Parts: sequence; structure tokens; C-alpha cells
Amino acid sequence: MTNCETQLAELVAAVQTSARYRTIDRQLVERVGREALSRYPSLKAAIKATKSQLHQMIGAYAERTPPYDQWLAELQQAPDVASRKVICQRLLASHASTRERLAVLDRLYPACLGDQPPQRILDLGCGFNPLAVPWMNVPATTFYAAYDIDTALCSFVGAVLPLLGVQGSADVCDLVTGPPPVAADVALVLKVIPLLEQQRRGAGADLLRAIQAPRLVVSFPTRSLGGRNVGMLETYRRYMTTLAATEGWSPHEIVLPGELVFIIRR
Ligand SMILES: C[S@@+](CC[C@H](N)C(=O)[O-])C[C@H]1O[C@@H](n2cnc3c(N)ncnc32)[C@H](O)[C@@H]1O
Repeated sequence: MTNCETQLAELVAAVQTSARYRTIDRQLVERVGREALSRYPSLKAAIKATKSQLHQMIGAYAERTPPYDQWLAELQQAPDVASRKVICQRLLASHASTRERLAVLDRLYPACLGDQPPQRILDLGCGFNPLAVPWMNVPATTFYAAYDIDTALCSFVGAVLPLLGVQGSADVCDLVTGPPPVAADVALVLKVIPLLEQQRRGAGADLLRAIQAPRLVVSFPTRSLGGRNVGMLETYRRYMTTLAATEGWSPHEIVLPGELVFIIRR
């Protein structure tokens, strides 16, 4: 092993001692760790920087590691999709980015998914959003392909999707390196682009260009996690207007409490 590889292995081991980051895809921890090692003089500083970046990417959005086994057991024991929907509503309320969407779920998804029921949906940087499937009114033949960087989240979502009345899968994918190589009718990219742009400038726009889907639903948070509005709506509207002009897209905009949504048909 070279000195660099030894340092990277030590960094990954140190980061993974923390329960919150243990389930994050190892390749992603290595990517963030490698960048930190090239920027910071000491291993200690690079470990601290890696944890801080991972926290921004995922940690800041969950109050604690969710009790996935307990949630799954509850959903498995529920007698039908209607009672699972009630459980999903409670689980969605436990995650900052899905909590504020709860009040508008009934009208959001019909607008996002279009007139034709999609055969295949991609949910990129899915978080807990697949738990909103009961509000999507899609047929049992729809395939829901979810992706995120947390292996425990992906196992949970993969087990839950069939309980919510669709076929589906959930896999690990680092979106900074590009979208998964699969096509779909619609791709949901909800509140992920700012995080990708933070990880690598241009990564969000590159992702949107590369997704193989004729319909994109892209959203941005318009309130910070502390609940303040710090000009985010204008910033992200400008981001999308500029990108859309370059790409020749004509996005349809929906303003929700705390979220700015664009529907792009290509
Ligand atoms: C703000 S949450 C949004 C979750 C969900 N899309 C929603 O709006 O309800 C951001 C999600 O992006 C994921 N994420 C962050 N960086 C990522 C990356 N490089 N590749 C894939 N997913 C990423 C996080 O793990 C987290 O689940």
C-alpha cells in the first residue's frame, strides 16, 4: 500500500466509527476523503473535513439514524395499502425535507407525473420520498427505481416499495459521478441539486443533462434547515432559468411552501 492509500484507509476507518456515517457507501466516503486529504495538511484535519462534508450531504437532514427495522416491521404488519399510507405519513413527518411537503402531497404528484401513468420512475437522491408512493396514484405495474448514497436507507426503501403497491428497487449511486445508466418516463430530482453543486461545481447541471428521461421534476429548498428564507427562491430560480436557456428547456414552475419545483419536458 502506498502512503496515500494507507492514509485514505485510516480516514475511512475513522469516519466509519461514527454510527451516522457507517452506512454511507464506502466509495463515496473515499471520494470525499481523497479530496479532503489533498486539501488538508494533517490526517486529523482531513477526517474532520470529511465528516463535516458528509454531515452536510446527509446528516443534517436526519435527526438520528432511523429505526428502519422497526419501520419495516410496522409496514409489513399493516393489513393493506390504506393503513400503510397512514404509517408512511408519520414516517415522512420524521424527515425535514419530506415533512414540509406533507400538506401538498395530494396535489403535487398529479402535477409532477403528468397525464399518462409512468411505467418507470427514477427517484434520484431519494431520501424518504419513496414513502410518498401511496399519494402518486400509479398502477401496480409501475417500476420505481430509487437511488441514494446510504446503504441502510436503500435496503429499507427496496423492501418497502412492494408493500406500497408498486414494483421497485433501491440502489446506491453517487450522483456526482453521473446518473444511473437506466432510462425512465420521469425522473424525480427533489432537493438534491444544491447538495451536488456543493460537492462539485457543475455536478447538478451535468446530472440533469445526462438523465435518460423525457420528463424531469427538479426541486429546490426555499427555506434553510433553520427555517429562514435567505433569498433561496430567487437564487435557484436564476440557476434553473440559466440552465434551461442553455439547454433549450421550458420549465413549468410550481411554488410550494418551502420548495420550488420545476417540471421539464424534453
Ligand atoms: C435534502 S435530501 C432530499 C431527499 C428527497 N429527494 C426529498 O426531497 O424528499 C437529499 C438527499 O440526497 C442524497 N445525496 C446527497 N449527496 C448525494 C450524492 N452524491 N449522490 C446521491 N445522493 C446524494 C442524501 O443522502 C439525501 O437523501
